[in-house]
Amino acid sequence: MQIDGKTQLYGVVGNPVKHSLSPVFQNRTFESLGINAVYLPFELPIGNFEETFKGLLNIENFKGCNITVPFKERVLKFGEPSEEVIEIGSANTVKKSPKGAIFLYNTDWIGFLNHLKELTDPKGKKVLVLGAGGTAKAVVYALKRAKAEVYIWNRTLQKAVNLAKKFQVEVLSKIETLKGFDILVNTTSVGLKENDPYLFDYNLIEPSMVVYDVIYRETPLVRVAKQKGAIADNGLKMLLYQGVESFKIWTGKEPNVNELWKVLKEASEKSLKR
Ligand code: ATR
Repeated sequence: MQIDGKTQLYGVVGNPVKHSLSPVFQNRTFESLGINAVYLPFELPIGNFEETFKGLLNIENFKGCNITVPFKERVLKFGEPSEEVIEIGSANTVKKSPKGAIFLYNTDWIGFLNHLKELTDPKGKKVLVLGAGGTAKAVVYALKRAKAEVYIWNRTLQKAVNLAKKFQVEVLSKIETLKGFDILVNTTSVGLKENDPYLFDYNLIEPSMVVYDVIYRETPLVRVAKQKGAIADNGLKMLLYQGVESFKIWTGKEPNVNELWKVLKEASEKSLKR
């Protein structure tokens, strides 16, 4: 890649962000499509996000970025939100127009839905979502849009009640059986560490279920689900698919998804070995 005076700047804004796998595949897309741009991680200070982000937006050749934890809500004051951003309440994609206007999008929901649809069609299915944080909002929005029947369980019940009210779905206060559920989605951070305690008794998973964990690696939940005969997968492809949607928003171009999947899988395996 030839960096010169006209190279455009993209990136992922978060804290921490050094572990992010997005630069690996976004840079490959720019290169493969011959676009003169780079994509970098930007670790912004949590206490001084607003001032720093404003400075980033003002850089002339800065054209857009992804936003990750913990800034997805704090970014909302910086631009015009899409309909989905308003509904979900958070943005993960920022685009600067040629005239300098800032537009905000959410591609997490579509990244999740595109991957889930490869495993099963959620339309009309009974789905249990674990968690009621930021990621759960995008997931519940996606499932509602796909016309699934959604139940939310969360450690802190009140948060599940609030989220269920917002999206007009149901609450499950205690997981005693999973009979009748077709799909289970984990949106909590439990499983990030191998020795995290189980969220519930994973032996309740039915072989007929599809189990989806938004965490990028094979978690104990995914592993047990597979052992029980269920279809199960982690969120690495959701990461790819949200990134692909962001890329399309920035450039209007269609990346080679198969090529990127190979690149991302390799990078993920390498980072797990470290
Ligand atoms: P994100 O943006 O990744 O969704 P978040 O908004 O901080 O992050 O939400 C984290 C989710 O993980 C919440 O649903 C949280 O449950 P609480 O609302 O009860 O805090 C859930 N979570 C985190 N640690 C957990 C644990 N040890 N057991 C159960 N749920 C946990």
